[in-house]
Amino acid sequence: MINRRGAEKLTKRFIKNFHVLHTNEQIRKRIKEVSEEINNYYKAKTDHIIAICVLKGAVHFYSELMLNIDIDVIYSFVHVSSYSGSESTGKIRVNYWIDRSITDEYVLIVEDILDTGSTLSYIIKYLNRHSPKDLKVATLYHKVKKSSIKADFVGFEIDDEFVLGYGLDYNEKFRNLPYVGYIEK
Ligand code: IMP
Ligand code: MG
Repeated sequence: MINRRGAEKLTKRFIKNFHVLHTNEQIRKRIKEVSEEINNYYKAKTDHIIAICVLKGAVHFYSELMLNIDIDVIYSFVHVSSYSGSESTGKIRVNYWIDRSITDEYVLIVEDILDTGSTLSYIIKYLNRHSPKDLKVATLYHKVKKSSIKADFVGFEIDDEFVLGYGLDYNEKFRNLPYVGYIEK
């Protein structure tokens, strides 16, 4: 696995002022802790959940998180987009929506990052129309000062900085960096 210094060198070739925020090891360690919170929450309530991955950014978080969940998980995916470059456009476009009923089910939404919270509010509003028994949110990152809503399970709380890697993109690039970095202002 690439170390912090190596990672910075590699990425500086693409973007100036880029710094590693969390290494792959740190991310996976934290995801394991979050998955324990999630396991504890559902344990006494249900033997299965429907976990909805919010594409594309949550893909790596979702995959790692699910491998650590110890009840049955039915996988489901939605694909929505609101960002252009490093600015939220405020308009949400639905490219792909869930393919099964969530009525009376325990549902966990898995997001990459909560920024203004508008994407998540939109998703929650539409899912609630189908009356799930329980609806919870897990997010890898949460920009605490900026977002209007809270997640139930949070990987890392961060300031208002633009982060990328481990699924998070800048104009569709950098998703496949195994670590997360931020762009210094
Ligand atoms: P929101 O609707 O403002 O909460 O934005 C949420 C979506 O915008 C996330 O699911 C990400 O896809 C994207 N996004 C927000 N902040 C960042 C960031 O710092 N880096 C990369 N993508 C981001
Ligand atoms: Mg995005």
